[in-house]
Amino acid sequence: MTTTAPKKKLFIRTYGCQMNVYDSSRMTDVLAPLGYEPAADPEGADMVVLNTCHIREKASEKVFSELGRLRSLKTENQQDGRDMIIAVAGCVAQAEGEFILQRAPYVDIVLGPQTYHRLPEMVARAERASAENRGGTGKPGAPRPGVGVLDTEFPVEPKFDHLPMPSASGPSAFLSVQEGCDKFCTFCVVPYTRGAEYSRPAAQVLAEARKLVAEGARELTLLGQNVNAYHGDSADGAVWGLGRLIRELAEIDGLARIRYTTSHPRDLDDDLIRAHAEVPQLMPFLHLPVQSGSDKILRAMNRGHTGADYRAKVERLRALAPDLALSSDFIVGFPHESDADFEDTMALVRDVGFIQAYSFKYSPRPGTPAAVMEAQVPEEVKSVRLTALQALLLEQQGAFNQSCLGREMDILLDRPGRHDGQMLGRSPYMQPVHVAGSEDLYGQVVRVRISSVTANSLTGTLI
Ligand code: SAH
Ligand code: SF4
Ligand code: F3S
Repeated sequence: MTTTAPKKKLFIRTYGCQMNVYDSSRMTDVLAPLGYEPAADPEGADMVVLNTCHIREKASEKVFSELGRLRSLKTENQQDGRDMIIAVAGCVAQAEGEFILQRAPYVDIVLGPQTYHRLPEMVARAERASAENRGGTGKPGAPRPGVGVLDTEFPVEPKFDHLPMPSASGPSAFLSVQEGCDKFCTFCVVPYTRGAEYSRPAAQVLAEARKLVAEGARELTLLGQNVNAYHGDSADGAVWGLGRLIRELAEIDGLARIRYTTSHPRDLDDDLIRAHAEVPQLMPFLHLPVQSGSDKILRAMNRGHTGADYRAKVERLRALAPDLALSSDFIVGFPHESDADFEDTMALVRDVGFIQAYSFKYSPRPGTPAAVMEAQVPEEVKSVRLTALQALLLEQQGAFNQSCLGREMDILLDRPGRHDGQMLGRSPYMQPVHVAGSEDLYGQVVRVRISSVTANSLTGTLI
């Protein structure tokens, strides 16, 4: 898009999940026509956005300490006679909007994850308020309590209808197909911060995918809080599930790889399982959070499945797609979790086998049912369990990486490596792979043989 607006520096800091990463890049798109260009650091920026995450206590706490630092930068800007617009976006903004404006009155804009298509309006209002303030008191940096713009409405119409089409910024691109969550796991804030489950119409997804591929994307990762709950309206009148959507995307010329994340075990239906066997572009790597191996805890979490259900789905996947590898999320120390419950989790990990995983201590979140359950587990117990679980998961990850030694794999080279003549890419299983080769290979899928392995990455030689 061309613009005659004067250039301004925009810095966005992103916390949390890939949905936030996607939203941050869309906020950049929305602000470009106003003259905002991405900057690598907040110093001297004309606008700073914190795109926040509310999922665990630690994540939320970071926001206020970061805001404290930004306040000083804003004052420095004001001493130079210009302002710095500070915006708080994302899930903390959604959950604690009013409180942020009270506690940090120098914040100009608070916006939720569903309203950033209206950012240009909010920026205009904030700029007006800033100009009035300068003309008024003449005191740079003076707090302006109560004038911050707050927009955390859940939309009547989905934001996607009001956003410009995104541009591919490399060989690997995100495509948001689904948003929000209606599952209400008892530990989780997402249904409150992201709102109800919504699937984008299939035609919109396909059009965006075609544009991204035409601009050089070779890999698309379909995003959603529960991406496999996707049920989008299609032109033929039928509602498409994720399996169907993936099959249609696979028809796009030049699209080499398809991934999706994050999925819920309950929504992994047979068509999607079969897609793993039938669609060669669908990568053999699936992030399928299980949280716990104990049926008692899964019930208390309101996950809607048992350990046996999870194992059965994995078995079915592996029967049809034997090379499929899994990753997962785990929570230890959920209220009422006994040693025996935790052992059920360890047993599930041993039986299923994961090549990668995220694991967390349960963090009570305001407004969620689990936060007020009796029998909260002491922090020391959570720590001991987390250490044991992570040791097992790391052992499995290491063993999988070792098993890759000598194997042939296709690698999508999507970044220059740290050294000259080296490129970095991803294996089908998302492992980072270093490959000796020139920059001409950028964006290509190359065949390599894995020649060495470390804890966190592989090295491959071109075949
Ligand atoms: N929709 C996805 C997960 C989204 S949140 C799913 O259903 O699996 C990402 C992960 O954060 C969760 O899988 C869970 O493991 C973790 N998480 C969420 N709330 C948490 C809490 N209160 N305490 C600790 N971990 C939590
Ligand atoms: Fe949170 Fe559960 Fe929804 Fe995942 S499925 S986003 S864990 S409520
Ligand atoms: Fe965090 Fe919101 Fe994602 S709470 S994990 S940024 S959906």
